[in-house]
Amino acid sequence: MTSSINNTLIQACVTRREEHTDEIAVFELAAADGTPLPLFEAGAHIDVVLAEDLIRQYSLSNAPGETVYRLGILNDPNSRGGSRRIHEQLTAGAELQISAPRNHFPLQMQAEHSLLIGGGIGITPMIAMAYALKAAGRSFELHYCSRSESKAAFLDELKREFDERLVLHFDDAGDAGRIDPAALAASQPQAHLYVCGPSGFMDWVIAQAKVAGLAESQIHFEYFSAEVDISGEAFEVFAETSGVTVQVGPHESIAAALKAAGVKVPMSCEEGVCGTCICDVLEGTPDHRDHFLTDEEKEDNDQIALCCSRAKGGRLVIDI
Ligand code: FES
Repeated sequence: MTSSINNTLIQACVTRREEHTDEIAVFELAAADGTPLPLFEAGAHIDVVLAEDLIRQYSLSNAPGETVYRLGILNDPNSRGGSRRIHEQLTAGAELQISAPRNHFPLQMQAEHSLLIGGGIGITPMIAMAYALKAAGRSFELHYCSRSESKAAFLDELKREFDERLVLHFDDAGDAGRIDPAALAASQPQAHLYVCGPSGFMDWVIAQAKVAGLAESQIHFEYFSAEVDISGEAFEVFAETSGVTVQVGPHESIAAALKAAGVKVPMSCEEGVCGTCICDVLEGTPDHRDHFLTDEEKEDNDQIALCCSRAKGGRLVIDI
């Protein structure tokens, strides 16, 4: 099976916790044994293991090159338990297991100009990107969209580090605060645009950037969570490595059907955004529902997100 899961976990501890707003806490993590944590690239994230079956991904928000990790985590009322548990349990000195960093959201460092757009807690990967671009002397601007100044984390640091390259957009400032992604993209037709934030915000920014003429190859994004419709016609899946055939019901995921038959599928987000459950397809055509694979990867039809995607036609053969 092709999976992005990294089985080598690192024992880490919380060396600092700061409350940036009433909803966002910022955590600094170091290796529990005092050794440097693995280096990471801008855009990378780590898995945080909260329980055997509760793993969440968080972007690294500090400057690449540092050997501690910094996470900004929103205590999301719609959370399925991850962020709430972190806010309740991770105090300074707490130990936890994390994965090594992985990067599904890399910077194109050679771009003429980079437009970094963070909505809410989606600012976190953008901060690491801004540090990397600044260190490399590249042209960029950092747009931070938030409901209000009081809901925005990292503000003092961003103003200090990125100065005139930082543009703040607060909803409560009315039209004056509103970001116009189409105008931004149109003014920088060679730019690469990066966006992270709530899925509706991201969909809107991506659509606006396309309307303004940016090519898909110039638009980069990472979803934290997404509404995903897993329903459809029933179909059959043969898990070749396990030698197990399952019927996937109209409102059931492939992962759930496999689990019921005793085949364990590594999973994390269960919303098609993290890539943990990606598996090779050996026969058949997937009906892709995820936000993880790129359009090109989806067209290849040789991988599938088992937590949400389905089959076109009646049968899939997969490598698990
Ligand atoms: Fe995250 Fe399937 S578990 S994409």
